[in-house]
Amino acid sequence: MGLKEDLIKLKEEAKKLIGSVKDKKSLDEIRVKYLGKKGEIKKVLKSLSKLSPDERREIGKIANDIKDEIEKLLKDKLAILKEKELEEELKKSKVDIHLPADWVELGHQHILTKTLQEIVDIFIAMGFSVEEGPEVEREEYNFDMLNIPKDHPARDMQDTFFINKEGYVLRTHTSPVQIRTMLKNKPPVAIVAPGRVYRKDMDPTHTPMFHQIEGLLVDENITYRDLKGTLQKFLQEVFGKNIKIRLRPSYFPFTEPSFEVDISCTICSGLGCRVCKGTGWLEVLGSGMVDPNVFEAVGIDPEKYTGFAFGLGIERIAMLKYRVPDIRLFYYGDLRFIKQF
Ligand code: DAH
Repeated sequence: MGLKEDLIKLKEEAKKLIGSVKDKKSLDEIRVKYLGKKGEIKKVLKSLSKLSPDERREIGKIANDIKDEIEKLLKDKLAILKEKELEEELKKSKVDIHLPADWVELGHQHILTKTLQEIVDIFIAMGFSVEEGPEVEREEYNFDMLNIPKDHPARDMQDTFFINKEGYVLRTHTSPVQIRTMLKNKPPVAIVAPGRVYRKDMDPTHTPMFHQIEGLLVDENITYRDLKGTLQKFLQEVFGKNIKIRLRPSYFPFTEPSFEVDISCTICSGLGCRVCKGTGWLEVLGSGMVDPNVFEAVGIDPEKYTGFAFGLGIERIAMLKYRVPDIRLFYYGDLRFIKQF
C-alpha cells in the first residue's frame, strides 16, 4: 500500500475514534497518538525522504491537510465534551434555575414631578411651548424689567436670597422667563416656563425652594376673555369639569389689571369648610394682562400687542388636589408619604 492510502486510512481511523470518545482525557490521548511528536502522521512524514521530489510534495500536502482536519475534529469534539461537562455540573448543583428572581421594588415619579408634568401637558395640548430659565437670575430680569424698580415696595412682596455675585439673585419666581422669552422672540408668543424658585420662607405652606409654572401669551387682540377662558379650561382639566372659577382684582407689578384666580372649594364644593376657611373658594394662582411697561422694557410695541400672564405654585396645586396638609411633606423623603401617589 502506498503512503497516500496509509494517510487516508489514518484519517478514517482517527475520525472514528474521535467520534466515539467520551471524555477529555481519552481525547487527548488520541491527539498524542496521531499528531504528537512520535505520532502516526510524523511517522509517515519520516519516510518521505525515500520518495522523489514530486511525490514528496504531493504526499507532504496530503499529510498536512489530514493533520489540519484531525486538529479541527479534535477541537470540535473538545467543545462538545466541555458543554456536556457543564450540563452535568448544573444537574448536580442545587440551584433551581426555574425559581422566580428576588422581588425588586421599582421606584416611581415624585408627586410633584407628576403634577408638574401634568400641568405642562395640558398647556402643550393648548398650543403652548415650554421655555426654561436659570435659577441664578439677573436681578434686572427678576425685578427691574418686570416693572419692579429698586427701592419700590413691591420688591418686599418676595423675600429674596441675594448671592455673592453683584447683580444676581436666586430667582424668586418664574416671571423672569417672560422677559427672556420676549427678548428672544417677537410675538406671537405662547409659552409656559416650569422650574424651581427660591424665597426666604419656612412654615407649613412655604419652603425656601419651591416650584412654579409661568405662562405668557402675547399677540394682537388678546383680551381678558382669552385669559379667563384659558385658565378656566386649564383648571377644569386639573381639578375636574365641575369646579367654578372666580377672578378677584389684585396687584402684581408686571400685570395691569391683575387678578387672583380662585376655584370653588374642592372639599365642600363651595358650601364653606375648614379648608376654604368658610369662604367656599380656594386661591390657586396669580394672573393679569401684561403691563405696557414690561412690553416697553423688552422692545415690544404695547400699542400693537397685548397679552396675558399667569404664575402658579406646583406645590400649592398638588396640596389642593391631593389634600396634602403640610408642604414640607413633599421634601422629607418619607416613603410612607411618597408611596401614596
Ligand atoms: N410671579 C408671581 C409670584 O410669584 C406670580 C404671578 C402673578 C405671575 C401674576 C404672573 C402674573 O405671570 O401675571 O408671586
